[in-house]
Amino acid sequence: MTSLSIFSTRVSLREAIVSKLKPSSTVGFVPTMGALHEGHLALIERAHKENDIVVVSVFVNPSQFNNQLDLENYPRMLEADCEKLENLGFLILLFAPAVEDVYPENELYKPIELSGLDTVMEGKYRPGHFQGVIHVVRNLFQIVTPNNAYFGQKDFQQLTIIKHINNVLKFNINIVGCATLRDSDGLAMSSRNLRLTSQQKQDALILFHTLNYVKNHKGSFKPKDLRVEALKFFHQGNLRLEYLEIVNGEDLSPMQDEWKEQSVCCIAAFCGEVRLIDNMRL
Ligand code: PAF
Repeated sequence: MTSLSIFSTRVSLREAIVSKLKPSSTVGFVPTMGALHEGHLALIERAHKENDIVVVSVFVNPSQFNNQLDLENYPRMLEADCEKLENLGFLILLFAPAVEDVYPENELYKPIELSGLDTVMEGKYRPGHFQGVIHVVRNLFQIVTPNNAYFGQKDFQQLTIIKHINNVLKFNINIVGCATLRDSDGLAMSSRNLRLTSQQKQDALILFHTLNYVKNHKGSFKPKDLRVEALKFFHQGNLRLEYLEIVNGEDLSPMQDEWKEQSVCCIAAFCGEVRLIDNMRL
């Protein structure tokens, strides 16, 4: 018996969820854009441990790409994704919809005020990106109605914003942030790594090394001065830095003179054509 059930319409997915729901059962949801790697599979395994029903979505969301080329080049490999999901060996409801099924034609949608969480870092360099993310996440939450939803901490700003809209829109979903999985050399797992050559994978390690440097030198500098030291890592090498920020992990404001308990260093850099992000709690 196959452990994977695939749905392409919201109606068929809803029917399947409802038919499996018992009064006390919980639904765990892992939204993805596919090209699944170990990091996604860890989220899905956690959802399985903590819930009775597991729903995974694979949907490359056009509205969150501010660069057409990035959207076109985003890896799509549904067949291989299905095989990975099957191999997990437990029942998964996979939602792989078309654009019309996520964004109905007659839908009413007003952009959501994000209290400045979307104007820094990723938001500054990818205008509109987070409105696209929260639009799709909101719609997926409405379709799946999960109790628990699982997101990787690699997208730290995204996770912060999703927690925020969960409160503002009163979804009452438990948003679970899961630790970033890394290759043995420290490179954060990402679907975009598929587009890196082996030399670029080596070059990209500068992100991890810089984050470690910042973490290990927290005691010796003020945040604003440590940031200046860390920027020097990108003066050489093949990466093109977009931003490196040390922020308050609660409201994403840049940290200046004083360390807060919730401090996070976030970096985005281009490695060739591929844009990589990573972060570390300090
Ligand atoms: O993190 C991602 O893969 C995407 O931003 C998400 C949350 C699936 C929305 O498209």
